[in-house]
Amino acid sequence: MARRAGNMLARLHTNCRKANPVPYIRDDDQMRCGVPDEKVPWHVPWSSYDPEDYTMKHVLSQPVWADPVSLGGLKFNSLDGKVDRRSHTGVYELDSDEGTAGRPLNPAGRTGLKGRGTLGKWGPNHAADPIVTRWKRDESGNIVINPNSSKQILQFVAIVRRDHGVWAIPGGMIDAGENVNVTLRREFSEEAMNTLELEPGKVLEVSKQVDELFAHGIEVYRGYVDDPRNTDNAWMETIAYNFHDDSGVSVGAFTLNAGDDAIGVKWTDINKDLKLFASHSDFIKKVAELHNADW
Ligand code: BGC
Repeated sequence: MARRAGNMLARLHTNCRKANPVPYIRDDDQMRCGVPDEKVPWHVPWSSYDPEDYTMKHVLSQPVWADPVSLGGLKFNSLDGKVDRRSHTGVYELDSDEGTAGRPLNPAGRTGLKGRGTLGKWGPNHAADPIVTRWKRDESGNIVINPNSSKQILQFVAIVRRDHGVWAIPGGMIDAGENVNVTLRREFSEEAMNTLELEPGKVLEVSKQVDELFAHGIEVYRGYVDDPRNTDNAWMETIAYNFHDDSGVSVGAFTLNAGDDAIGVKWTDINKDLKLFASHSDFIKKVAELHNADW
C-alpha cells in the first residue's frame, strides 16, 4: 500500500477495525484482517498489508444506489452528476497501488478489508440523522430531573434497525441529488411514525407537525462515521441534526410507530450508558451538551 500523509480523524475507528481478525458485519465467512492501533494511519508503512478484496453480491449486481465495479468515469472528490463524492472530512486520497489504483482511501485509515463490502459507493456514502428530542416528564407533566446531576433528563426517538438489530437514530441514506432536509424528514416519518402505512388523513397531520418541528433544526455533527460496514475504499459519513420539541406538545406528544427499516421505536432517556449503533452515542452526547441536559 502506498504511503501518504493521510488525514487522520480525532479518534481511531474501532467499529470497522479490530487488532485481531474478525468477520465482516454482514458475512461471517468474510474476515477482516487485524489492524493494530499503530498501523491504522495510511502514512505508517506496512508493506505486507494485503487485506481481502470484498464487495457483496447484491452490491455487485448494481442496484440503482450502487456504483459500477469499474472505477472508470467516476469523479472522486467532486459532485459527480447527481452523486456527491465529496467528503465532509476534506479531500481524500486515491490508492496508487497496482491492481487497486484509483480507489478512494478511507480518511480514517486502514480497516482490514478492501472493496466496498455492503456499501454501494466507492468513497463516501452519505447519510443523514434526525435526532428528535423532548424533555422527560412525569404523569403531572413536570420535567424529570436526575437527582445525582440536578439536570433535566432529555429523551430522543430511537429505533431498532432491521439490519443490525440494535438501537439507533432513525437515519438513512441521502439519495443522489436529494437535499438533506428531505432525507431527514422522510427517514423520521417512515421509520418512527410509519407514515408508509398510515391512512392518508393521518399522514397529512403527522407531516404537518414533522414539518413544523423540522423547520428549526440545529446541526450537531457532520463527518465520518465509525460504522461497522466501512472498508478501506468505502465508508459512511453523516450530517446529524437535532430537532427539539421543548414543550412536548407537537411531535413529542405523538404515538411512535416503527416502520420501513425499523422494527422497534421508543422515546429513550439520554445518558452516557446508551449503547447505540456506529458512533450514534457521540452525536447524542453533543445534543445533551447543547441543551445542558443530564448525561
Ligand atoms: C444510518 C444512519 C447512520 C449511517 C452511518 C446509515 O445507514 O441510517 O443512521 O448514521 O448509516 O452509520
